[in-house]
Amino acid sequence: MGLVKGLLTCIVLAFPALVASQACSLPASITLRTNAKLPDPFAFYNGSRVVSKDDWLCRRDEIGQLFQRLELGILEAKPPGVSGSLSGNTLTVNVTNGSKKISFNVPITYPSGAGPFPAIITVGGSSISAPSGVAVIRYNNDEIAQQIDQNSRGKGKFYDLYGSNHTAGAMIAWTWGISRVIDVLETLPNSKIKLSALGVTGCSRNGKGAMIAGAFEPRIALTIPQESGSGGAACWRISQAMKDRGMQVETAYNTATGTAWLAKGFEQYMNRTRDLPHDHHLLAAMVAPRGLLILEHSAIDWLGPESTFGCMKTATKIYSALGVVDRMGIVQVGAHDHCQVPASQRPAIETFIGRFLTQSTSNATIIVQTDKANNAGFVEADWVDWAVPTLTP
Ligand SMILES: *[C@@H]1O[C@H](CO)[C@@H](O)[C@H](O)[C@H]1NC(C)=O
Ligand SMILES: *[C@@H]1O[C@H](CO)[C@@H](O)[C@H](O)[C@H]1NC(C)=O
Ligand SMILES: *[C@@H]1O[C@H](CO)[C@@H](O)[C@H](O)[C@H]1NC(C)=O
Ligand SMILES: *[C@@H]1O[C@H](CO)[C@@H](O)[C@H](O)[C@H]1NC(C)=O
Ligand SMILES: *[C@@H]1O[C@H](CO)[C@@H](O)[C@H](O)[C@H]1NC(C)=O
Ligand SMILES: *[C@@H]1O[C@H](CO)[C@@H](O)[C@H](O)[C@H]1NC(C)=O
Repeated sequence: MGLVKGLLTCIVLAFPALVASQACSLPASITLRTNAKLPDPFAFYNGSRVVSKDDWLCRRDEIGQLFQRLELGILEAKPPGVSGSLSGNTLTVNVTNGSKKISFNVPITYPSGAGPFPAIITVGGSSISAPSGVAVIRYNNDEIAQQIDQNSRGKGKFYDLYGSNHTAGAMIAWTWGISRVIDVLETLPNSKIKLSALGVTGCSRNGKGAMIAGAFEPRIALTIPQESGSGGAACWRISQAMKDRGMQVETAYNTATGTAWLAKGFEQYMNRTRDLPHDHHLLAAMVAPRGLLILEHSAIDWLGPESTFGCMKTATKIYSALGVVDRMGIVQVGAHDHCQVPASQRPAIETFIGRFLTQSTSNATIIVQTDKANNAGFVEADWVDWAVPTLTP
């Protein structure tokens, strides 16, 4: 009886999903329209309104396509040849694409005990100390795609497999590599990793990468980008406005030309971000309804404090529309070195890890905080000209 009911539910749910996913593709050519405000999350590219949670899934898919086509480059799907093994505490990931093959190692630090353990994937290290009972999967993103300077473009194991001219910028290539790590863990029942409780974190440039991984890899339950600034938690438009007022803020121009983080094609938009149909509140929105904790700095201009706080506060509106506003937190504080975790951020980190990874707390306190006066300078009316609908189930 239960099985029959389950099957019927599947059929009923699968059919509209199929129809929706066909309707979610964008035209071959994206028409840009100047918009000085943060684009409306609840309007499809064609102007139709997003009214239901099913519509949001389609809109989310559309947003993912916009990010790939205009900014990040194309995220390759899982290729057929993914295999790997765990030897001691080292996970080996092997991927083949036609005649080409890559292999990379990922060290895992386990807590004592039998597991399975929740785990945090660290992108290029982490300054968040490993909480008790949580394994740490140390992902060396630079090996997959280099980020030294502009000459890094097309270098790294991702490009060994897909060619140095692949559209993917380094950050979406890192996401691809994280997904392959999870693929291999899925094949290893004795890995002692609890796959329903995976987090990702990283700081600064690697915080940008952590946020993109959380947006594009739905098997990640909790995303904690730390001091990611422009290209991560900041909105291109707000950072540019800060720069135009004379502040030393990282803008789209700096992010596009600094290293090979973004797709080469993004350079044509870096000085005209108001023409883009997306901005980074929508990157955060892609993480919903999963856990997202934004750690930012309020006193380093380069990170764009007004931009990160305002952009992410705007993103909480999508969590709100989905009925899960407590699953996204923001803690922006100053008076500490870049990429250090001040004591004032620890309760939120513990709470989010407790809720989404270790299941040790159900404390769903809403945390949207900055220690900088006047919302760090963010005036919502200057940036948001749309209302938040109550999405129908
Ligand atoms: C607009 O796009 C959405 C999502 O792709 C689609 O469901 C809807 O039918 C489109 N509306 C029109 C008028 O084409
Ligand atoms: C992965 O590749 C390495 C290096 O080529 C090889 O030694 C190993 O046997 C491969 N493992 C699996 C599970 O394919
Ligand atoms: C690798 O994969 C890409 C995309 O999936 C494909 O276009 C390409 O031809 C493949 N390369 C080889 C050498 O098989
Ligand atoms: C990459 O593109 C350039 C410019 O179009 C071309 O000269 C080069 O041969 C390409 N490289 C590969 C590996 O396809
Ligand atoms: C973009 O803006 C930067 C910084 O203002 C400037 O140096 C550069 O020449 C501009 N590039 C283009 C392609 O407009
Ligand atoms: C709930 O979480 C908040 C934010 O992390 C924290 O400040 C508070 O102490 C927690 N409350 C309880 C009862 O654990």
